[in-house]
Amino acid sequence: LDGTTQAIYQLHTDAQRLYQHTLLNTTSGEKALSYLHNVRQLSDEVIKTFGIGFVPNDDLLCNYAKEQNLSHELLTASQLFITNDMNGEMRDRFSGRIVWPIRTDAGQVVGFSGRALDSDNSIKYMNSPESPFFTKGRILYNLDRAKNVIRQTGTVMIFEGFMDVISAHMADEKIGVATMGTALTSEHVRQLTRLAKRILLVYDSDEAGQNATKRSIELIENSPKHVEIGVVHLPDQLDPDEVRTQRGLEVLKKSLNQSILTPIEFLVNEARIGKNLNNQSQYLTFLHEVMQILKTATPVEQDIQLTRITKEFGTSKQALQDQLRQINIHPSH
Ligand code: GTP
Ligand code: MN
Ligand code: MN
Ligand code: MN
Ligand code: MN
Repeated sequence: LDGTTQAIYQLHTDAQRLYQHTLLNTTSGEKALSYLHNVRQLSDEVIKTFGIGFVPNDDLLCNYAKEQNLSHELLTASQLFITNDMNGEMRDRFSGRIVWPIRTDAGQVVGFSGRALDSDNSIKYMNSPESPFFTKGRILYNLDRAKNVIRQTGTVMIFEGFMDVISAHMADEKIGVATMGTALTSEHVRQLTRLAKRILLVYDSDEAGQNATKRSIELIENSPKHVEIGVVHLPDQLDPDEVRTQRGLEVLKKSLNQSILTPIEFLVNEARIGKNLNNQSQYLTFLHEVMQILKTATPVEQDIQLTRITKEFGTSKQALQDQLRQINIHPSH
């Protein structure tokens, strides 16, 4: 590590400490703390465990850095500040936001994600910008704290957001990681397949989350190292954090442990969405999509899905098998 990087790391470590202190012990943090307690239902213990903080509007970190005689170049490179184009003045980047420290898998704070307290006039989430030490295609939130349990259990859960990881932690699932608001990359998958032989995808059960699930399934299936994939289905378009705060910790616990689908089951369920299967033409479209999904499935999984369709819709198993065979002979159909 060169001196500059070391100083940038130290500044992040100090920032996390100052921001947490502001949240827990000062009047400027009161509003944020009551939001975390009352709206997000987080205890002080959880807030401390995850190092959550609040950035006051008085440029606390900027003033601290000046007291430390850190150079202007270093402050710029740290990405912790924004520079006013008009007068060149520096301000704390995350002013007025609740911040979650983002650590490398070795536990070094290298960035923050900041959430606005009021969602009216500002962007909800802001992350540290991409930099040589903060690379979103590589970083997985909470991997530093989760990796031992992931290795021991052989299983990892991937979430969309860090509040979802924290909610899973509260539900005693300490194997959660999250991407930084970006898509999963093959580099993320490479890191995870070194630790786990099973990956559970726990994305929001809204349309965006389900589309992300499809993309992640494809990416993980293309990984050079074979891993088992499971898809956790959450109820009513909720995300894990909303399941916890709206339905309770027990419902989240149950969902994380019991509502696990194979990728094939998930994709077949997805194919039903938005179709009236009592309508013949929509039913045929559904069957066509199912056959595409089943092309690469194992014979047993094919049989399970075709049996289900036969039971539910009365179409003969033989006819379904014939159609699946035809698709395999004419893959362009
Ligand atoms: P909460 O209201 O805090 O629960 O957030 P959410 O559940 O609506 O977050 P959402 O499901 O939309 O996004 C999941 C993750 O994507 C978040 O944890 C962020 O990391 C990221 N994200 C969401 N919105 C934004 C955004 O506007 N900008 C950026 N950079 N990231 C975002
Ligand atoms: Mn959202
Ligand atoms: Mn979402
Ligand atoms: Mn969400
Ligand atoms: Mn949420």
